[in-house]
Amino acid sequence: MTGKDSYDTMSGKRDLVMKDKVVHLGLFGLGTVGGGVIELLSRKKGKDHHKFVLEKIAVKHLDKKRPVPVPLYRLTADPREILADPKIDTVVEVMGGIDPAKEIILEALKRGKNVITANKALLAQAGSEIFKQALDSGCYLGVRASNIAAYRLIESLISSPFQFEKLIGIFNGTCNYILTEMEKKGEDFSPILKKAQEIGYAEQNPSDDIDGYDTAHKLIVLLGLALGYFPPLDSLFIEGIRRISHQDIIFAKELGYRIKLLAIAKREASELEARVHPVLLPWGRGLARLDGIENGVELRDEVGVEIGMQAPGAGKYPAATAILEDLVSVARGRKLIYPQPKRYLAFKKMGEIKTKYYLRFNALDEAGVLAKISGILGDHNISIKSVLQKGENEKPPGVVPVIILTHRAREDDIQDALGKIDNLTIVRGKSLLIRVEQGIF
Ligand code: HSE
Repeated sequence: MTGKDSYDTMSGKRDLVMKDKVVHLGLFGLGTVGGGVIELLSRKKGKDHHKFVLEKIAVKHLDKKRPVPVPLYRLTADPREILADPKIDTVVEVMGGIDPAKEIILEALKRGKNVITANKALLAQAGSEIFKQALDSGCYLGVRASNIAAYRLIESLISSPFQFEKLIGIFNGTCNYILTEMEKKGEDFSPILKKAQEIGYAEQNPSDDIDGYDTAHKLIVLLGLALGYFPPLDSLFIEGIRRISHQDIIFAKELGYRIKLLAIAKREASELEARVHPVLLPWGRGLARLDGIENGVELRDEVGVEIGMQAPGAGKYPAATAILEDLVSVARGRKLIYPQPKRYLAFKKMGEIKTKYYLRFNALDEAGVLAKISGILGDHNISIKSVLQKGENEKPPGVVPVIILTHRAREDDIQDALGKIDNLTIVRGKSLLIRVEQGIF
């Protein structure tokens, strides 16, 4: 498919409207997002008159109820029917999972078909291999839908002559929804997760979302596009939101912060810090303002330019819109751009990061307790910024939460100190730490 740009000779201006483009599509997967793609394709042919013809849809079960009406003759349970069809020049993969999505994508690329995918888990695992195949085959590979919150940043991440210095994002709607509901309803994590599952906001097996993996996959895709190589999942520190309690949300608010699950990437010289975990963000600014399923991203580059955006992190229209933008790129005959791998960066060890910490201990409410805790912190070079102690309706009786906000400290020192504090007889249960992060905006 090649584009036919026209030129307005009267005015001498280039006419950017491209005409008579026909993209023949095969769709893999007809869930919420696949249904959204079909709906948007039929609602809008594209403002630049591109024409998309949906030739075939591969589904797992032919007799399932569909989110949108589709003629039966368009459906197939055999992916090879799409892969082997020479008329189909572009495939959209919204089936998710690694197998058989990986094989299907690689095979489509080998056969010279453009590929558009929303599959962040697959890209995080096999992004380098998939991009290499797309480049070798001269095909377009569209990944905007793999991170809806940041998809308008993707081209800039790839093309900017400047490296990013700091990139942070809320990339998981389920977690942001749960944290917002815990705050609004005054309830703990488990009952809110259960309600989110009942209304279909959280998966029955919610681990991917709430344990931080989905966020990590999305961060890895952005890093892959920025750096030219996809860091392995195990090079990131990943921690989810299971241990956050409603109490923590209240205490954080009293200290001027809101708790969010954040993806964080920082470059410093030849070192890269990449991690996903709950953070305290200063209340009322930037990403801390985002409620419910809203996602967002903030980026600062090495020359100090800062940009940020917010978008719904999930849902059929946001995802389908990102896919349609990639389809328009195909129709315009856009070539895949992918950065040459830059110098490989060493990953900073988690134990070496330095930040401020929110610490929660459950301690006996008696003389000398604070002195013991602060003594251990002092022995580990950890300086205390503020302390909160609340003692109402204690469960168990006589045990109160003690909250300490520290100045900047080294992670290894904090972990050593917490190990020692947790061994004190005056402390009950495992203490909690939440790292404090400064937003860009
Ligand atoms: N499960 C994801 C979320 C949406 O909750 O944000 C798909 O990426």
